[in-house]
Amino acid sequence: MKDIKIESILTVYDNIEELPEEVSNLMDHAMLARKNSYSPYSKFSVGAAILLDNHQIVLGSNQENASYPSGLCAERTAIYYAGSQFPEAKILKMAIIAGSRIHQTMTPIPPCGACRQAIAEYEVKQDAPIEIYFMGETGKVVKSHSLANLLPLVFDKSVL
Ligand code: THU
Repeated sequence: MKDIKIESILTVYDNIEELPEEVSNLMDHAMLARKNSYSPYSKFSVGAAILLDNHQIVLGSNQENASYPSGLCAERTAIYYAGSQFPEAKILKMAIIAGSRIHQTMTPIPPCGACRQAIAEYEVKQDAPIEIYFMGETGKVVKSHSLANLLPLVFDKSVL
């Protein structure tokens, strides 16, 4: 028997101004996308913006439903749009901004497990890392250099 240590490395920026311009621009797009969040039930608005290697930016926001499980997170809305509209493009980066409309969200909000799994599919498909940046409404921004870094022991097509 032996223990295995799994490490993830994250980069933390103090605020959006510290980001490289291309990324702060992408985060600005995520902020705009967040305005289209349809989240009357959770009152938690999330916006995501994806930069493709064809220079297109694809947006998504969380879309809720009276039948709660039928709703979809911002990250999956965006990545499925990218996959369906630009199937040949590589996904370079995703920026995510999230926060409650009931209280202020100052801590970075990471993508949920289901979204990590969905993003992982495209990272494996394109065989190139997708940078993920996430934040709350204000404050620090966290960068992961890849999705795999956020989802160790990923379940992917290699086991099928
Ligand atoms: N949500 C996202 O859009 N992304 C996540 O990664 C976590 C959660 C949405 C789903 C739901 O509309 C609301 O936030 C509260 O869970």
